[in-house]
Amino acid sequence: MKPLWMIVLFFLSMGSFAQEHVFITIGSDAVEESFKNFNSFKSLKSSHGVSVLKIKSEDIERLSKFMHERFDRCGGFILHSSYEEALGILSTHKLRQETKKKKSITYNINQSSMVQSMLSLVQESSIREMILELSKYKNRYYKSKFGVQSQEFIEKKWKSIIGKKSYISVRSYEHAKWPQPSIILTIEGKKKKDEHIIIGGHADSIAGWFRRESATAPGADDNASGIATMTEMIRILSQSDFRPDRTIKFIAYAAEEVGLLGSMAIAKEYKEKNINVVGVVQFDMTNYKGSKDLDIVFMSDYTNDAQNEFLGSLVDKYLPDLTWGYSRCGYACSDHASWHNAGYPASMPFESAKRDMNGHIHTSRDTIDAVGSGGTAHHAQKFAKLGVAFLVEMGKLD
Ligand code: BES
Ligand code: ZN
Repeated sequence: MKPLWMIVLFFLSMGSFAQEHVFITIGSDAVEESFKNFNSFKSLKSSHGVSVLKIKSEDIERLSKFMHERFDRCGGFILHSSYEEALGILSTHKLRQETKKKKSITYNINQSSMVQSMLSLVQESSIREMILELSKYKNRYYKSKFGVQSQEFIEKKWKSIIGKKSYISVRSYEHAKWPQPSIILTIEGKKKKDEHIIIGGHADSIAGWFRRESATAPGADDNASGIATMTEMIRILSQSDFRPDRTIKFIAYAAEEVGLLGSMAIAKEYKEKNINVVGVVQFDMTNYKGSKDLDIVFMSDYTNDAQNEFLGSLVDKYLPDLTWGYSRCGYACSDHASWHNAGYPASMPFESAKRDMNGHIHTSRDTIDAVGSGGTAHHAQKFAKLGVAFLVEMGKLD
């Protein structure tokens, strides 16, 4: 039997060995430059613009400083506990790059007269009223009774809008792990009903860190505005007796604020069932005009490049007075990311550039009066118009 000191020494040396090198993933564009400055760098694998490297743990701090100074990147690399974990990032990144770049359909703009006449019907007042109705709930937290009641309200509201139309239906989608359901409205397609277009927004709200079930969380901008924007699209399509060729779904997701849970469950189910979704657009925060020079801002991460460009060209064609541009969330910030991660083309037209965002979200001060447009829904109205244009052009095949 080995003496105790040998065993202790063995484990100590194991520990120091394990600490000596770590695995990181880093943008491949930064690798060459970094090599010159860090002798301990070892490049192990690269794919789709991301590299897995081995580096001495003592160099980590200097690398962080270097990335910041040389590349203006805050935390320009990710630290991993094992080589396998780093490789995992590489493969999901590859999939996400493919989802970003893929062109699932050809985009056309040829429904001008139908779009124009529907756009003239979009009202600021009905969007405003819906925001106010939703903000009346103490909160719309996924685990509170208010969060269940507010979903019942949305279900009723949507049902009352569609009246008795055989090709439109509304249902509640129950989630096994929490009480708040998602609400789904379906307009059945005529010619290609297996091809789906999804318009989504989260219906839940949140504020504070403790006792969230009883916290005051009006969530007027985040995200009563998105739900009200969708509700206006539903009103216009229904009132116009619009019969799409593809199937259109509107989804008011549950439980976004606690980690995109509702949309993740639904996107996973669609993927497992191999359901063909040709486009997803997320409306999350549409009523705060935070950027002076921009009306509509497309989040460029976790989204599809071609569909984003198509939405931009719809703004140019149908809303020529508006300005649009791009920004980045920098992380999976809303339900579009659930669809993107499941391999579907997604977009998120957002109310401002990220840096100009509404500072009141997730507090009791997220009310319609706080957004600086005088308690109106004029900013959200632009998004309802974009949504209608998107649905008519995407919904029709000829
Ligand atoms: N509406 C926000 C996302 C958002 C905020 C986008 C500001 C752009 C600017 C959303 O409801 C939210 O709060 N998301 C969470 C992430 C989620 C995974 C819990 C967030 O941003 O922290
Ligand atoms: Zn939100």
